[in-house]
Formats: sequence, structure tokens, C-alpha cells
Amino acid sequence: MSHRLRTTLTLIAAGAAAGSLALFVAPSADAATTLGASAAATGRYFGTAVAANKLSDSTYVGILDREFNAVTPENEMKIDATEPQQNQFTFTNADRIVNHAIAQGMKVRGHTLAWHSQQPGWMQSMEGAALRSAMLNHVTRVATNYRGKVFTWDVVNEAFADSGGGRRDSNLQRTGNDWIEAAFRAARTADPGAKLCYNDYNIDNWTWAKTQAVYTMVRDFKTRGVPIDCVGLQSHFNSGSPYPGNYRTTLENFAALGVDVQITELDIEGSGQTQAATYANVVKDCLAVARCNGITVWGIRDSDSWRASGTPLLFDGSGNKKAAYTATLDALNSGGSTDPTGTPTVSPTVSPTVSPTASPTTPQPGAGCSASVTVNQWTGGFTATVRVTAGAAAVTGWAVTLTLPSGAAVTNAWNAQNSGTTGAVRFANVSYNGRIAAGSSTEFGFQGTGTGPSATPACAAS
Ligand code: G3I
Repeated sequence: MSHRLRTTLTLIAAGAAAGSLALFVAPSADAATTLGASAAATGRYFGTAVAANKLSDSTYVGILDREFNAVTPENEMKIDATEPQQNQFTFTNADRIVNHAIAQGMKVRGHTLAWHSQQPGWMQSMEGAALRSAMLNHVTRVATNYRGKVFTWDVVNEAFADSGGGRRDSNLQRTGNDWIEAAFRAARTADPGAKLCYNDYNIDNWTWAKTQAVYTMVRDFKTRGVPIDCVGLQSHFNSGSPYPGNYRTTLENFAALGVDVQITELDIEGSGQTQAATYANVVKDCLAVARCNGITVWGIRDSDSWRASGTPLLFDGSGNKKAAYTATLDALNSGGSTDPTGTPTVSPTVSPTVSPTASPTTPQPGAGCSASVTVNQWTGGFTATVRVTAGAAAVTGWAVTLTLPSGAAVTNAWNAQNSGTTGAVRFANVSYNGRIAAGSSTEFGFQGTGTGPSATPACAAS
């Protein structure tokens, strides 16, 4: 950074950038010569996806260590990689990348805690409350494991349909529309210091229905205080999904909601000066938005790409810099606006205006239901799944009381509304699961710190 001391700092009002002040960092006489150093001069990172099995390739590692100051494990933190059997967590390959990054002083983006794809077999066949519980357990365990090492998590990946502006159908979506916010809450509890992102592709063009749908969700989350800090735009560009002229508008509009934006999986199919010019445009767009924290390209050499035939990256198969590299570096060196606070917006900027639409039914003590609890315990925390079963008659409302051991506390619940968080905690049905047919069951769950409950819960029905 010392060569940057002569950098001129010009204070400008960033009118479009969430109404905050931003610093404009003008180019210096002695521009940085690597992607990471140049991005760092405006407070940003420049990262790449990394595959653990390439860390023994000296050309690959040479470029990685020279050029980049952030990494995203390409596949090694995904659900199938980290929890291949339920509740058996494996971090070996992810750790190879994380340890390399830490040793090199690079940031680590965590990708990804909840996703419809790359689920292990046991999760693919799950549905409903059991899946919801397993998903939250996964989010909690993985985020907890990397607490303090991962600066940003892709908490939820690709949850919206490609067209039409709705959610993508998946087993996770079928657990209830609130699965995304439940995942974010669990991630915040597990790793309060990490920036939490929603990440998706084809949300680059401001006019597309998918972009609007994600924007509407993020706005709703900010309004209701759901803990979201960031939107990740994957930005895989090719002839079928080209870089849109309104990309900067999209970045600005997301940022104006009070979240950061990150370009998370950039690759641009093509070659020569056309490809180079598009890379430069993307970089300039990010630099123009104070809350655009950084850019990650999805691989190092063209031959490392998931779309290798489209030669979409910055280095050729031999590791030589392409025209796209030079254009990217030059654009980074042209300076940009930064958010002087540099910190994630963890607390909601808008007070919650939405209150629960239905208050739970008050149960009549003594009416027939029973409950049982199963607990997934780990050091310092747990998730509990509670099964509520109606007796010989249907019930129209229920409440379950569980007594937590001393020192334990509920941090969040799903499919039930809790009163209190410690000691004897009461969980009442919510609007959609109060009615249980005779002999049938429903499930709810909660997550907590400390030791989970062991005694049989008490159930009261109406
Ligand atoms: O490692 C095995 C190898 O042993 C086996 O012989 C071979 C046979 O198919 O498969 C290899 O695993 C492949 C793995 O990449 C490692 O190369 C998987 O089949 C393949 O499915 C997997 O693809 C990954 C893809 O996500 C899966 O969805 C890509 O590497 C990865 O770049 C890509 O990344 C995604 C982001 O996570 C989310 N956004 C889109 C992006 C591109 O698809």
C-alpha cells in the first residue's frame, strides 16, 4: 500500500449510494500491478474460485498467490462436500483452501450454506419439517465451524426461478416460503461477524423479472429486520445471457436498499478486445458503486473454468495474461468510490412494520395431544425437532412447553411461536399448523445455545 500514499482522496457525495458519503479514490501515478493490490487501493477485494485439487499445481498457485486477495472454494464448502452423511461433517478439502488463503492473507467467501443443488443423497430425499431442521442444522454447524475465518457467506444460493419472478421449486422451498429468512437467521446466530449474502445468477439486468423478484425479497427482509447484508450477483455472461447496459443501475438499486453488493462468480465468454472491454465495464460498474465490495472471477485459467470452451477467464490455459486481464487491471487502477465505513450493515435500517398476521390459538389445558423431542447437540448449541401428535380427537390449536437446562437459550424457532427463551419455554402453533387431525402429527423446531432439552415435553391442545 505504500506506493499508494500519493493517491488523491476526493470527498464526494454519493447521492445514489444509499444516501451516504463516499470517498472517490483517483488513480495514482504508480498504479498497482496485480488485481488484488489494485482492488485493495479502493478498499475492495479481487478474488477467484479455487479448487482444492489444484493447489498442487504450481502454475495455478503461482497466479493465485500473486494476483488475488480473496478466494471462494468452488465446490468444497457445498452441502454434499461438508455433510456427506447427515450430521457427519467433513471440512478437509475446504480447510485446504481456507488454510492456504489465511496463510496468504486472503479473505475467504463461504459458498454456500443452503442450496437446492449439490445436496447429498440423504438431503435430496428429505422434505418438510425434517428437511427444514436438517437445513438449519447444516447452516449452523458449517457457519459455526468457520466463524472468524469466512468474511462473507452465500447463505442461500439460487432460490428464484429463471423466469416469471417466483421462487424456484425445490425440496427446500416446499418446507415453506420462510425457509430463506430462517437460513439467514440461523447464519447470523452462528457467525454474527460475517456478512450474509443472497447469491444468484441472471439478476444482472435490472428489467428482468428475476432481478425484480430478488430485489423485492431483499427490500422485504430489510423492512422486517431479517438479517441480510449483501446481494451476490454471480454474473456469468455469455451470448445467451449478456452483460446488460443497465448493470450499474442494478448494483446501485440493490445498494440503495442498505445492503452491500458483491460480484461473486464473474466469467465472460468470448475473446480478444470484445471480451476485454466487457470485463472493464463490469469493473468500472463495481467501482462506481460505493457498496460494491469486490469481484470474484470463477476460476483462474480458461482451462479451470466450468465453461472452459467459452474461454471466459483472465488467464489462458498456460497461465498467460489475456487482454481481458490487462483491461481488468487498468479499470481497477482507474479508481472508484468506496464506503468509508467499510462495515456491513448488520442492523436493519428500517424499523419492522410487519407484525405476525395470526396470533396463536390459546390451548385448553388437558385436551388431547402429546409431544416428543429429538435434539442434535454439539458443543455450545443444538437444534431441536418437536413432534406434536393429536390424540383420539382432532385439535384446533396446541402449545408445547419444554424446560431448558440452566444456561440454555432459544435463539430462533420455526413452525411455532415461542414465549420466553430460557427455563420453561412455551411454543404455540402458528396460523397454518394449529389444526391436527386425530392421530396425526405436525413438527416444529428451534435452535438454541447451550444444552438442549431432554425431558418429555408437555402438550396442551384445544
Ligand atoms: O470431482 C469429480 C470427478 O472425480 C469426476 O470424475 C467427475 C465426473 O463428472 O466429476 C467431478 O466433480 C465435478 C465437480 O464440479 C468438480 O469438477 C462435478 O461432476 C460437477 O458437477 C461440478 O460442477 C460444479 C458445479 O458448480 C455444480 O453445480 C462446478 O465445478 C462449479 O464451478 C459450479 O459452480 C456453480 C456455483 O456453485 C453456483 N453458481 C453456478 C456455478 C456454475 O455452475
